[in-house]
Amino acid sequence: MTDLTATAIAHPNIAFIKYWGDQDPKIHLPANGSISMVMDCLGTKTSVTFDPDFVTDLLTINDKAASQKSLVRVQRFLQIIRDMANWQMYARVVSENNFPMGTGIASSASAFAALSLAATKAIGLGLSESELSRLARHGSGSACRSIPSGFVEWTAGEDDNTSFACSIAPPNHWELMDLVVVINKEHKKVGSVEGHRLAATSPFQKTRVHGSPQRLDTCRQALLTKDFEKFADIVEFDSNLMHAVMMTSHPALFFWEPASLELIKQIPYWRKKGLPVCYTLDAGPNVHVITLSQFAEEIKERISSIPDILNVLCAKPGLGARLSDRLTFC
Ligand code: DP6
Repeated sequence: MTDLTATAIAHPNIAFIKYWGDQDPKIHLPANGSISMVMDCLGTKTSVTFDPDFVTDLLTINDKAASQKSLVRVQRFLQIIRDMANWQMYARVVSENNFPMGTGIASSASAFAALSLAATKAIGLGLSESELSRLARHGSGSACRSIPSGFVEWTAGEDDNTSFACSIAPPNHWELMDLVVVINKEHKKVGSVEGHRLAATSPFQKTRVHGSPQRLDTCRQALLTKDFEKFADIVEFDSNLMHAVMMTSHPALFFWEPASLELIKQIPYWRKKGLPVCYTLDAGPNVHVITLSQFAEEIKERISSIPDILNVLCAKPGLGARLSDRLTFC
């Protein structure tokens, strides 16, 4: 019998082949599959306590009562778990991030992955990894990729049961390093829910989705064979394709800042000079600079010569969501 409380940690992840647009937005059923890396060193710790005396769910993030918007999102998610387990009690959720909030690093993936594990454990619901991944997807699509370890593929699937993520290689498979170049700390003006909805308004989205099985194959193969040249080429291409869709949506979404563009222009040139390095950007101006760990210092030095960079965070391949009450890793 459980004491109705559990604590879990999970990391964010960076997509090499992106999720952008849904087949069914209500259940975050994506238009295409995606591939990502769990980002060790950055993480969320979440404790969940169910109590028969609570009259509603409560949410604290980094020692502060959460906004109404975040609370409603978490309440809806907890209700899915209650319905699934035929459970009646409300919960207190206490969540902490070890990476500074508002740095433009999406915390929803690590948050919903940690919450999925902590909430289900607290009520003694033992889910398999794929069941947990499916569940986390309901909170935030990309959260399903923070349940497994290392290098992860999310199969788009055709319905709720068939859409979840699995590990394709463990964290120690390849010593990649993600240098997250923080360019703008402002919160996103357009959230991902709205962005996914707008994807279908771009004439390029159909082409992007149609070519995704081929790009997934190329990326998976490059990762498994550790072919950096091939990997760099497909990762940059896929990021550019997603941003082309964003820029041609109605209304158009432009996320890049001048410093983002400067890096996008410089990085392929550094690669031509022999450095293993490439870029990818999510729905924001921050640039994820991917390299091999032994080149990280040299690349960081080059990044520091670009104007208007706020700071650089480092992440290596990490483990999936797990029960723990420690928020220090690396
Ligand atoms: C650009 O998973 O944040 O980062 O399901 O609405 O929470 P919601 O969206 P989210 O979308 C991620 C979009 C992306 C690309 C990616 O991570 O694959």
